[in-house]
Amino acid sequence: MANVLVYGSGGRDHCLADKYGDSQHVEKVYFAPGNPGVLYTPKGKRRLIELVKLSDPDNFTEVAKFCKEHRIDLVDVGSENPLSAGLVDVLTSYNIPCVGPKADYARIESDRAFTDFFLKTAGIGKPEYRVFYNPNDAWKYVKNIGYQVVIKANGLAAGKGAIVCNDQEDALAAIDDIMVKKMFGDSGDRVVIEERKYGTEISFFVYLDGRQVFPLKMFCQDYKPAFDPDDIESIKKFGGNLNTGGTGCYCPHQLVSDPLVNRIIREIVHPTVNIIYNDFGWNYKGVLYFGLNLDPDNQLEIFEINVRHGDPEFEVLARKLSTDMFEIGMAVWEGKLDQIKQVWNQQYYVDIIGMEGRSKASRGWNPGYPKRYGKGHQITGLDKLDKSIAVYFAGVDEHDEKQLVTWGGRVLHLVAGAETLEKARKKGYENIQKIKFIDHKQDDADCMRYRRTIGYP
Ligand code: GLY
Repeated sequence: MANVLVYGSGGRDHCLADKYGDSQHVEKVYFAPGNPGVLYTPKGKRRLIELVKLSDPDNFTEVAKFCKEHRIDLVDVGSENPLSAGLVDVLTSYNIPCVGPKADYARIESDRAFTDFFLKTAGIGKPEYRVFYNPNDAWKYVKNIGYQVVIKANGLAAGKGAIVCNDQEDALAAIDDIMVKKMFGDSGDRVVIEERKYGTEISFFVYLDGRQVFPLKMFCQDYKPAFDPDDIESIKKFGGNLNTGGTGCYCPHQLVSDPLVNRIIREIVHPTVNIIYNDFGWNYKGVLYFGLNLDPDNQLEIFEINVRHGDPEFEVLARKLSTDMFEIGMAVWEGKLDQIKQVWNQQYYVDIIGMEGRSKASRGWNPGYPKRYGKGHQITGLDKLDKSIAVYFAGVDEHDEKQLVTWGGRVLHLVAGAETLEKARKKGYENIQKIKFIDHKQDDADCMRYRRTIGYP
């Protein structure tokens, strides 16, 4: 039986640890740096998933030593920051099997301009774009361009780095936020300004094993805006419908069909992977996440490519996928993806994210995620959830008396499954109402907020 280390700390990483925990080959899943939410879920309570406290999680040599000491058979690196910082490079130098690309290859996500250039050069569907190194040039460009744009930080921004603009005023402000105010730090030293596209977003995933590609023939839809489209009051108060990276997800996407999956593989996946393997000569082993748009003219284009699973996309895909995750992970490492059979169950899944909403601050109020939010609110109601509900934790911490408390903006994912989308949605919304983020300093007010339109295509 095998030991696995999942390296990460968000909801996707918790879900990844949970999925490895379902494998018939796995005895123990270590989760580092992890989050204490896992201890409040059945596999954490049974110590099938064990939280690992590393003295310095950014010291990758320490991670490698941990793997050697605990006889880790496979490490799956869930998020982009450790990939870009070279965790896989260090682990593989110790001959530790890994899922995830080396730092050079993670450039696909950490340098949007690089990826956009190779996609455009190869003629792969991609909206028009320009790259800017200083705000004055960017401002001048958007003043003259005439059509709506999306302003993107060039570097990593936890899936939140794209600001969708309605007009010139929005675009000027977004450039100021990213390049001058540095809302995403150094990732905003450069921006990509891209034509705004309308249509349906599709999140599509493939695994690469260094020579073959294994596309998941299933896709889902992420809901990136912070608020429901009809929540005009909040949108106005927050100065726009801000990109959170994800407030929820559902799967299967209403457009899943063999012809569209085939088309995505033919038009998008194969040409991109051909460049990675054959032009760049990269021995890429890991996930590729294609953020796509299908526009009203039936044109398929790439918004972004990432080097890890999507969050919250993985939380629903993992529930729907019946294939053993350890078999996939080992096949990625050993170059044997041709031996994997993908099996999907017949259920529909909805992931509703519980976020920190408005709460009392020491002076005045916290408006709530994605702006300033409170922390330390006790999470209650988990024991009241239906047995079939899965909860994956993200921004949480442990407190001596209050036990599990909120510690981030996106706090938890509640995933409900049922035989129809309508039933999955109903179950999800019935159950999320049982969870509360209690503010003891303010008459036990509930500070949780969630979107009410997740799973409405
Ligand atoms: N769902 C957006 C992301 O993972 O980047």
